Amino acid sequence: MAKQVKTIGVLTSGGDAPGMNAAIRAVTRKALANGMKVMGIQRGYKGLLAGEIFEMKSHDVSDTIQKGGTILGTARCSAFRNEEGQKLGADMCKKFGIDGVVVIGGDGSYRGAQALAARGINTIGIPGTIDLDIACSEYTIGFDTAINTAMQAIDKVRDTSSSHERCSIIEVMGRNAGYIALWCGVANGAEDILIPEKYEFNEQEIINNIIRNRKRGKTHHIIINAEGIGHSTSMARRIEAATGMETRATILGYMQRGGSPTCRDRYYASIMGAYAADLLAEGKTNRVVSYKHGEFVDFDIDEALAMQKEISEYQYEVARILSI
Ligand code: ADP
Ligand code: F6P
Repeated sequence: MAKQVKTIGVLTSGGDAPGMNAAIRAVTRKALANGMKVMGIQRGYKGLLAGEIFEMKSHDVSDTIQKGGTILGTARCSAFRNEEGQKLGADMCKKFGIDGVVVIGGDGSYRGAQALAARGINTIGIPGTIDLDIACSEYTIGFDTAINTAMQAIDKVRDTSSSHERCSIIEVMGRNAGYIALWCGVANGAEDILIPEKYEFNEQEIINNIIRNRKRGKTHHIIINAEGIGHSTSMARRIEAATGMETRATILGYMQRGGSPTCRDRYYASIMGAYAADLLAEGKTNRVVSYKHGEFVDFDIDEALAMQKEISEYQYEVARILSI
C-alpha cells in the first residue's frame, strides 16, 4: 500500500534558474490544497543537513512568481554525495516530520533525491536548469528565460560588431550541453555555432568561413561558442591573427541565469510544481516530473538518469545552412 505523505519538504539544488520560484509556489500551494503540511528547506542539500528548515504557508510564496533566483537559496553540497551525508539527510527529514521531498534541480540533484528515496523518504524531482540537459524532459525550468536573455545580449553585441566590422565570439552557458548555443545561434543569425556535441576543433574551417564572408561583404562575423568548448579569449586571438579581422570575445556568464522568468517558464514551472505535489499525495516516490511529446508526465528517476539526450541532426544541419 502506498505510504501516506502528510508533511513535505521542498528544496532547490545546483545552479539556480529563473522559474524556480514559480515551482516552489506551485508545490507549496498545491500541497496545502491537498491537505499536506509544507516545509521549506533552505540552501539545497546543504540546508537539509544543517536543519535550515521552516514551515511554509501560502503567503510565504506570495509575490514570488515574477522573481528570478530562488527564494529558498541553493547550493552545491559535496557532503551529500556520500553515504554519511545521505543518511544524515534522511534523519533530518525524520526529525522535522518530513515524509516527502520535492527536489528542484538537475541530474546531480536527482541522484541526491534517489538516495533519500532509498532511505524511505518519498522524493520527486522537477527539472530546474537553464542548460536543458535533462534527458527525460523536453523542457527544463529556466531555459526559456536564459535563451531570451542571451539572445537580447547577443543582439547588442552584434550592433557594435557591425559598426566596427569586427568578429565577435560570444560564449554562452550550458555546461557540457550545447542547447543554449544552438538556440541562440539560430535566433541571433550567427555565422558560426560551436557546440560540444558536434565541434571537431577545426579552427581553420571557421577562419575560411570568416574570410569568405568578408569577401561577400559581411560587416561582422558572430560566433556563438558554448561554455563546454570554452577558451573564447584565446580563440579570438588566434582568429584575429589568422584573418586580420579585429576579433573580440564576450563571455555572457551569470547574467544568463538571473532575471524575471518568462511566461513560459512561469507556466511550466507552475504545472510541474503542482504535478509533483500530486505525485506525493498519491504516495509516489523516486519519480521525476517531465514534459514529453506535449504532455506533463513522470518517470522513475533510475530510468530517467539512464536516458540519453542528443542534439537533433536535422536541427543542427538547418542551423549550419541558415548561418551561411
Ligand atoms: P544539478 O542538479 O544542476 O545537476 P549538481 O550536479 O551540482 O547540479 O548537483 C547538485 C547537488 O546534488 C550536488 O551539490 C550534491 O549535493 C547533489 N548530488 C550530485 N550528485 C550526487 C550524487 N551522485 N549523489 C548524491 N547527491 C548528489
Ligand atoms: O547548470 C547551470 C550552470 O549555469 C551551467 O550552465 C554552468 O556550467 C554552471 O551552472 C556554473 O555553475 P556555478 O554556479 O557553480 O559556477
